[in-house]
Amino acid sequence: MNNARPGIDGVALRRLVERENTSFLTTHRESARLATASTAHWLNGVPMHWMRDWNTPHPLFVRRAHGVEVEDVDGNRYIDFCLGDTGAMFGHAPPAITRALAAATTEGITAMLPAERVARVGEKLASLFGLPFWQMTQTATDANRVVLRWARAVTGRARILCFDGCYHGTVDDTLVRAVQAPNEQGTARPRAGLIGMGHDVGASTDAVPFNDAAALERVLARGHTAAVIAEPVMTNIGMVLPAEGFLLHLRELTRRHGALLIVDETHTLSSARGGYSRAASLQPDVWVCGKAIAGGMPCAVFGFTAEVAAGMRRVQEDRAGGHSGMGTTLSGNALALACLEASLDELMTPASYQAMQDTASHLAEGLGRLFATHALPWHVSRVGARLEFGFGRPPRNGAESERESWPELEHAIHLFLLNRGLLLTPFHNMMLCSPLTTRAHADRLLSTLRDCLREIGSAA
Ligand SMILES: Cc1ncc(COP(=O)(O)O)c(C=O)c1O
Repeated sequence: MNNARPGIDGVALRRLVERENTSFLTTHRESARLATASTAHWLNGVPMHWMRDWNTPHPLFVRRAHGVEVEDVDGNRYIDFCLGDTGAMFGHAPPAITRALAAATTEGITAMLPAERVARVGEKLASLFGLPFWQMTQTATDANRVVLRWARAVTGRARILCFDGCYHGTVDDTLVRAVQAPNEQGTARPRAGLIGMGHDVGASTDAVPFNDAAALERVLARGHTAAVIAEPVMTNIGMVLPAEGFLLHLRELTRRHGALLIVDETHTLSSARGGYSRAASLQPDVWVCGKAIAGGMPCAVFGFTAEVAAGMRRVQEDRAGGHSGMGTTLSGNALALACLEASLDELMTPASYQAMQDTASHLAEGLGRLFATHALPWHVSRVGARLEFGFGRPPRNGAESERESWPELEHAIHLFLLNRGLLLTPFHNMMLCSPLTTRAHADRLLSTLRDCLREIGSAA
């Protein structure tokens, strides 16, 4: 928490939070009632503990969410720029998905057998994302966990490498930060705050700063890395864009040192049709995506090259029988497959991406102008339909991004916006534009944010 940074009046900030908390309590009485009732049987009153991480005095209970609009149980309506932190990137309850669900449920939900449409969906995945072989899981976490296991098996190497400040779901191997001491470069330590870990999650992981090709090469040159797992743009510690040429370096170095490159596009699916990798010709060995891939129905996929597929087959042939340690019963179920196909056919269209990009670009320009008008040294980063603003210069890595974060200010801004019908993700300043988000929605966000800055800006 830092009130001494330029542009913001700390006293005004605290006054605003106090007033907005009171205002929230007045306008969310039914949510308050449900929050109290829910504590009887849910831990902290919510079905998943992180739902308390929204910066509101008590949880907000949702009655319905359609398109970009969310309505709470008190009848308050919001334009949603959080969009389920990407799960609803193509809008809440897209008609293409509700139709697919209605049709598919009459044909059975899950059978432990491949559904009739499997061959067709495989063809569509290969055609859109450019990789020949595919597998499905229920969540991106599951996909990443499985992919890391395959990478170790295929390469015969034990260690993986990730970037400091990354998030790839609750995959133990990646719940690490890089040790900053110069003599321990590449070493990973467990993230702060992990609950109930029974082993050292960093024991077989190395971590280096994003955009640091020299540190990356030093670790890869040891020859023990099975895979590098990376988002092409870091999106979970604020947004960190790749420096010019860094991703090509990453691709070249992983190839040279025999490590697989796993690109996790769970968030950067927002970049362009076919994802960031396709648009930037990144050519990953393995490509992972969850959340929005089936229009928000629980589903994730990973695609891989013919070489990786050959390695997987070799591993299967060579091993003794027994459980592989990978797989969950509902993965690849008929319902998820139906939604995946509907999403590929009807949601991830060129027109959808065009609309998302146009609105996001309009919003990014507006934010840039707004910060300049208020003489705030803040930046805006964008990857396609996804934007983030930060309270300093564009960061080059996770540590820099973390240093510029300002939780108290984020809290104030989010609450001010929420009380005026606008939702941002709770954890940082991410805004996502769906195909249904309009310039008018973006303008409303801009003018409300301007009102907030007028009140807390030190020049006000
Ligand atoms: C890049 C990335 N990968 C994977 C995940 C995990 O997704 P899930 O929570 O759906 O398993 C996330 C979640 O935020 C993510 O941001």
